Amino acid sequence: MKNIRKEIAQLLAEAVDKLSQGAAGLSAEDIESLIEIPGDASLGDYAFPCFRLAKALRKNPAMIAADVAAEISESPVFEKVQNVNAYVNMFVSKAELAQITLSEVKSAGDRFGFCNKGEGKTVIVEYSSPNIAKPFHIGHIRTTVIGNSLYKLYDAVGYKTVRINHLGDYGTQFGKMIVAYRLWGNEEDVRREPIKTLLSYYVKFHEEAKEHPELEDQAREIFARLEHGEPEEVKLWQWFREESLREFNRVYDMMGISFDSYAGESFYSDKMPAVLQELKDKGLLKESQGAQIVDLEEYGMSPALITKSDGSSLYITRDIAAAIYRKKTYDFYKNLYVVASQQNLHFAQWKKVLELMGYEWARDCIHIPFGMVSLEEGTLSTRKGRVVFLEDVLNKAVEKTKEIIMEKNVNTENADETAKIVGIGAVMFQELSVTRNKDYTFKWDEVLNFDGETGPYVQYTHARAASVLRNSGIDLAKLDPEAIDYSWLTSDTAFELIKLLYRYPDVVLDAAEKYEPSVVTRHVVDIAQAFNKFYHDEHILTDNEAEKQAKLLLTAAAKQTIRNGLDLLGIKAPEKM
Ligand code: ARG
Repeated sequence: MKNIRKEIAQLLAEAVDKLSQGAAGLSAEDIESLIEIPGDASLGDYAFPCFRLAKALRKNPAMIAADVAAEISESPVFEKVQNVNAYVNMFVSKAELAQITLSEVKSAGDRFGFCNKGEGKTVIVEYSSPNIAKPFHIGHIRTTVIGNSLYKLYDAVGYKTVRINHLGDYGTQFGKMIVAYRLWGNEEDVRREPIKTLLSYYVKFHEEAKEHPELEDQAREIFARLEHGEPEEVKLWQWFREESLREFNRVYDMMGISFDSYAGESFYSDKMPAVLQELKDKGLLKESQGAQIVDLEEYGMSPALITKSDGSSLYITRDIAAAIYRKKTYDFYKNLYVVASQQNLHFAQWKKVLELMGYEWARDCIHIPFGMVSLEEGTLSTRKGRVVFLEDVLNKAVEKTKEIIMEKNVNTENADETAKIVGIGAVMFQELSVTRNKDYTFKWDEVLNFDGETGPYVQYTHARAASVLRNSGIDLAKLDPEAIDYSWLTSDTAFELIKLLYRYPDVVLDAAEKYEPSVVTRHVVDIAQAFNKFYHDEHILTDNEAEKQAKLLLTAAAKQTIRNGLDLLGIKAPEKM
């Protein structure tokens, strides 16, 4: 798409060069970085401050601004150029911006907003990563949907992406699980309802272990057997893993989420000895009460615990092995970990150990933390078994949405399907609306408010645009952007909407670079609001054919951009609602 900011920078550079007879020595890039977007639209779409030119031009900045304004005002890019004090205020030609934007949206279609910035580079996005045999609860939703959106964002800006689910499928808790299963377990119950059942064993284990601490020793022993590949234990563990994955996948399917790899913690168990050897060879290991550690005191952190006194490996050890494996296997440009901010210390220690090992690429391993979700009812804890399952939340969202749809009595022919798309979309949208690093409380009234800044509101706007297009009786495929009279799209309302569409590709790139999907969420809400204003203020399906065509092209572009934005969030855009 024609880049207006760059074009303006070019015009300004030529003008400044001419006025200063080359003395200003500012390139178009220098000038581009000086261009501002005024907060107040009455000061133009872009503004250029002239203070820096005073010296080279030996004039006061206000006079320079007047000269520059006169110099560039003839360009068809502008509707009007003014100088206010030391600023050149530029108003972009509305018809020109409409043409540039709507032509681009039409020709790019589902790929509007995409670019090839990351061509030839691989980004790994690790997300979700639940622990097997433990509930997939509401606390997992943010990593799952933020990670999914980051993968889509990086894909959109041209990177090759690898989606990894680093399953928590290893560690001493499996010793506990196996002990509990053998003592109190029942195969049929596990098959029927794996996670809830396994969780009840786990909870019972912790209750019993208070009275019978010897259970903890048994669990350690069983885990050691598992690490040594004893068939009985391995078989049970594998079964827990399969049953758990089956449940997780049911939830992933509901949200339309998938992965390229499920290489979790257990995948690295056979890679541990080499890592230990390497740490030893590099002189990083220290013994401390029988355990092996990397001392990080110098860096203001508690030590990284690499092996326990019984020799078993730990969470961080497996993460070190995983990073090395990923570098070798994927030669990543970036390796992103979407994991709650509760694990900030873990990732800081882990990164430091990689650095100390001499891996320059440690800087490309990036922890993307996020804040906590709490529910109105109170917080959650796995150990005591007070858990809110993510699947239950999603089902409840669908149910509640269906009630709302039936109440509104709008187009109930596909009520079930629509309730799914809207209900699940609403929950995902909410998670992606909150700035990533903030904690927040999940409230049903906010999530499902069709008039708020919510998923249902945006989806509803998309369906509304779809309905306008359907009712127009015009074959959109035949609308030729070259043949449209854009002077019909110069009202303030239309222009606000067009500016948002024009900025969308930059928003996508910005969101990817900041690892912040909420930037897209925010922008999609802005577009939906601007479209609704346009829809209410202007008559789209008028009798004037040229006017109608122009307005329909804008409607189609708004619909397409909303759809693309929702897609980057992992949310569906219904044609009817
Ligand atoms: N399984 C862990 C948990 O549920 C999250 C894993 C995060 N990823 C990692 N590479 N450490 O807390």
